[in-house]
Amino acid sequence: MTKRPGQEVPPTASDPETVPRTRLSRRALLGMVGAGVGTLAVAGAAGLTWKAVEGGVFATGTGPAYAAWDALDAPGDATLALVSAAVLAANAHNTQPWLFWVSPDRIDLFADTTRTIGAMDPLLRERDLSLGCALENLVLAGPAQGLATTVALLPEASDPTYIARINLRATAAATSPLYAAIANRHTDRNAYDTSRAVAPAQLDALGALVDTPDVRLVWFTRDAEKAAFGELTLRATEAIITDPQQSTDDYAWYRSSWEEIQTKKDGITIDPSGQSALIRALSKIIPVTQQQNNDGWLNGMRTIQVPTAAAFGAIVVRNPADRTQRLAAGRAWQRLHLSATDAGLAVQPLCQVPERIDRETSAGLPADFTTAMAALLPSGTHAVMTFRIGYPTMTALPSPRRPASEVLL
Ligand SMILES: Cc1cc2nc3c(=O)[nH]c(=O)nc-3n(C[C@H](O)[C@H](O)[C@H](O)COP(=O)(O)O)c2cc1C
Repeated sequence: MTKRPGQEVPPTASDPETVPRTRLSRRALLGMVGAGVGTLAVAGAAGLTWKAVEGGVFATGTGPAYAAWDALDAPGDATLALVSAAVLAANAHNTQPWLFWVSPDRIDLFADTTRTIGAMDPLLRERDLSLGCALENLVLAGPAQGLATTVALLPEASDPTYIARINLRATAAATSPLYAAIANRHTDRNAYDTSRAVAPAQLDALGALVDTPDVRLVWFTRDAEKAAFGELTLRATEAIITDPQQSTDDYAWYRSSWEEIQTKKDGITIDPSGQSALIRALSKIIPVTQQQNNDGWLNGMRTIQVPTAAAFGAIVVRNPADRTQRLAAGRAWQRLHLSATDAGLAVQPLCQVPERIDRETSAGLPADFTTAMAALLPSGTHAVMTFRIGYPTMTALPSPRRPASEVLL
């Protein structure tokens, strides 16, 4: 959410606090000093254009922050190419909480303990899922580079940051549809096509990808189930927004300036937020406050993301504290998202409910969302990742990424 992107909804043009009048006036003032009152209108327009250029309005998806999306099939070291695939994985708040140690016959994946989202992920569930997503991409990229992989999860009990040891050996090169989808997969926060249901057979095929004994996929396809999960998600969004710590920790990963995006190459940005081109352009020119961000997030959830979902889904596990199950759930999500991309489907995680459940657990709050979500799931299962699915109406835009060279130990 990502902050979720809907979250990034910027100010509305009717809000007197946010219309570009202030900036135009400032630019106009400069124009008056330099060339007289007659240049006022021109100077205002020029200032706005300059601000638009500086804010990246005309540069969507370009620059160093987006170069990793084109690096996947570039010629180079085969082992490093696996890391180039891993960094393109889905990950919570685009924190990219990973580090890699690379040698010719082995890659080690570590958690970067500095890249967390605080009260939004107090039990580090989402960090483990994100690392699982990266691991899945890495493994899928092996055969494409002529490398077979053998994975040992959490190989040293004494080091909780050591996520996986991946041994490599030469094999015949082979690509796969899931590998081919890696550079085209993007979280889609736009409206989905409400005239098209996703066929039950298609949902079953995606469910079959979640295939470990303790990790399963649950679909919410009936009207009553969809309404119940949608309502719960809206209520969880409100709860996050009104929880000062969660809201602040969420907003900390929001990147608003083009320069910051190009430098940090991470975080939540306006381009993939699902907003219209006009709103995206405006919010690159006018900084969005935390309050505006929250209001926009809730509004987008209420008017676009929940109502246009063809179905909702939940990846559930037996034990949400078990890190092996979390990593398997992350691998399953990445696989599911790649397969959905290959099939022309759109998906978006909507994890507000699990985020509130973890907040209730860690802060000792009443088990409101914990109880309500349990009522929607098979007994003895717990949701670690919840999402929506549907047919796209627009092209989902890419998020920034740090390239492989910036995440090596
Ligand atoms: C564990 C996890 C939780 C996520 N939660 C949300 C969410 O609640 N809302 C949302 O819009 N995106 C969510 N995302 C998607 C990330 O924000 C997204 O993967 C990241 O910003 C990178 O963008 P990309 O997937 O388009 O490459 C989640 C992803 C993961 C792996």
